[in-house]
Amino acid sequence: MIKKGIILAGGKGTRMSPLTKAVNKQLLPIYDKPLIFYPLSILMLAKIKDILIIVNKGQLDQYKKILPDGKNLGIKISYAEQVSPRGLPDAFIVGEKFIGKENVVLILGDNFFYGQNLSKKLIENCKLKNGARVLLHKVIKPELYGVAKINKKNKITLIKEKPKKFVSDLAITGLYFFDNKVVELSKKLKPSKRGEIEITDLLNLYKSKNKLEADIIGRGGAWLDTGSIEDFYKTSAFVSSIENRQGLKIACLEEIALLNKWIDKKNIKNSIKFYGNCDYSKYLKNLI
Ligand code: G1P
Repeated sequence: MIKKGIILAGGKGTRMSPLTKAVNKQLLPIYDKPLIFYPLSILMLAKIKDILIIVNKGQLDQYKKILPDGKNLGIKISYAEQVSPRGLPDAFIVGEKFIGKENVVLILGDNFFYGQNLSKKLIENCKLKNGARVLLHKVIKPELYGVAKINKKNKITLIKEKPKKFVSDLAITGLYFFDNKVVELSKKLKPSKRGEIEITDLLNLYKSKNKLEADIIGRGGAWLDTGSIEDFYKTSAFVSSIENRQGLKIACLEEIALLNKWIDKKNIKNSIKFYGNCDYSKYLKNLI
């Protein structure tokens, strides 16, 4: 089982300026929580307890205010600073020490996933021993993402970053499962035309060795964008609709930790004190 996870929460956030001038994008709200809670919840649902969050240089203090060290969630959160956004595979270079000799999951700090059976899928994919695995999801604008073409046996036949011409409508979502070779392979990558090392180039290295597998998030699952201000608004509306209909929160970190039996009532009480008098705390109170 993969036990380590990285959240890449750097990025320039230029498309969201002026909102991102003083605050990192992943700390901005998706409805009632900072965006970073959502990818973190995904790692926790995958039963991953050892987590590295990579942030932009100079933004560590902002993060530590809201997610200090993970202790109260029964997990271990460590941080690393990225000097400049060099591309997604840089996460494995910055995180080399953290990864050590183990396999690793990478989730992009701005990716939102939701759906029934998602936890089961995550745990299943964490069983990866060799190679790499990606999660694909059908989208209407594949040109905005890395895409994968698959054959009838769900085998990936082609991978392309933001294709101008249609290749496939299956986007490669920002959740990747890798074996330990990822560190060494990432170091071999050369920057693309946009000056960054590309995750699709990394995936192509695995593909050329026949070591790349695909899993699909079907129509019952949602993978939403938080790339632009409009996307933030739409994803917030999605979360609000579900939460206010069911009375259940999406990405309540304490709830996941409690259900995983990583924490107890005392930790929940600590969190209520920490967050103060707010709806999130009221929800926590109802859990215990
Ligand atoms: C990145 C990856 C792309 C992937 C996307 C998922 O795009 O390069 O392959 O589909 O994340 O969110 P970027 O955010 O750099 O545009």
